[in-house]
Amino acid sequence: MSGLRAAITGVQGYVPDYVLTNAELETIVDTNDEWITSRTGIKERRILKGDNVGTSAMGIEAVKGLLEKTGTDPLDIDLVICATVTGDFIFPDTANVISHATGMDNAFGFDLNAACSGFLYALSVGAKMLEGGKHKKVVVIGADKMSSIVDYTDRTTCVIFGDGAGAVLLEPTEDPGVGIIDYIHRSNGAGAEYLYLTAGGSRKPATVDTVMAREHFVTQNGRPVFKAAVSGMSDVVKKIMAANELETDDIRWLVPHQANRRIIETVSRMADFPMEKVMVNIHKYGNTTAGTLPLCLWDYEDQLEKGDNVILTAFGGGFTWGALYLKWAI
Ligand code: UT7
Repeated sequence: MSGLRAAITGVQGYVPDYVLTNAELETIVDTNDEWITSRTGIKERRILKGDNVGTSAMGIEAVKGLLEKTGTDPLDIDLVICATVTGDFIFPDTANVISHATGMDNAFGFDLNAACSGFLYALSVGAKMLEGGKHKKVVVIGADKMSSIVDYTDRTTCVIFGDGAGAVLLEPTEDPGVGIIDYIHRSNGAGAEYLYLTAGGSRKPATVDTVMAREHFVTQNGRPVFKAAVSGMSDVVKKIMAANELETDDIRWLVPHQANRRIIETVSRMADFPMEKVMVNIHKYGNTTAGTLPLCLWDYEDQLEKGDNVILTAFGGGFTWGALYLKWAI
């Protein structure tokens, strides 16, 4: 063991300007503000508009802001991980598109696909690469243009998702009072039948028929996903607290994936967290998939203090889920 620990030394988010309100959704599908608000907690979400702009466009803005804010030379970044399910292309990876556009030319990069758990997985992968001593400055991005894979004729999914990106800088520290300490990640392919995108992969490449059958959009059976999200996240949160001998009073913030306010409240209750300790911004952005956790950290940055114990947790397609324990370093 090198004795090094990875610490988040900067965080930056980016959301597109266009605000898609519940009122506008009422004009698109058979829904209403009361249903969306009471069932999900979402009031509005951001949408990336424009031709030929993909997820990288948001990742680039987040990374540019992150490098500027932390006074980091892009050439000093040696690893870039981009968590996304909506990469600009099947290949090349969006991490490389972002690296090139932001001058991170000495980095190697790759995308990580774990749906809504993507940023959490990427954070632990980046931390472990850095702890090994080989990497000194790692950028981890969570970004998704969900509007590119959401069917705006399907009211069960289109009200939930939005577009957004966030990025963090990881650097090594020997200070035992800060940094990424532990994680518990899980996955279970049995969940594939409840949340998936049918076509466009190698099993069912795009054809006129797949387009006509609307198979290039997200399909979700919400209720089983809801149940699995609640039990999965509360389980790993409790386990990571027990493993690190933490009581609720020891934790300053719980940072849950933002998929549904009712899921967030139920997980918080099951893990015994009062809502004052729980980061929530779903009302503003909806579910931005890999973007939710870094966007939460960005939104709550001025309420985070150095040394704060923070637990992040996520659940998503796959199924994938996990929890990560860190001490805030900025
Ligand atoms: O982030 C990745 C992981 N994803 C999640 O964690 C999402 C988990 N699931 C959920 O958050 C919830 O299941 C949803 C928000 C997707 C749906 O909420 P729900 O309370 O589970 O609703 P439901 O699917 O049980 O549907 C209840 C009713 C249905 O009508 P009937 O059959 O009772 O007449 C739906 O057709 O609500 C109807 N409905 C809507 N009504 C108005 C579904 N979507 C809408 C809508 N507007 N947008």
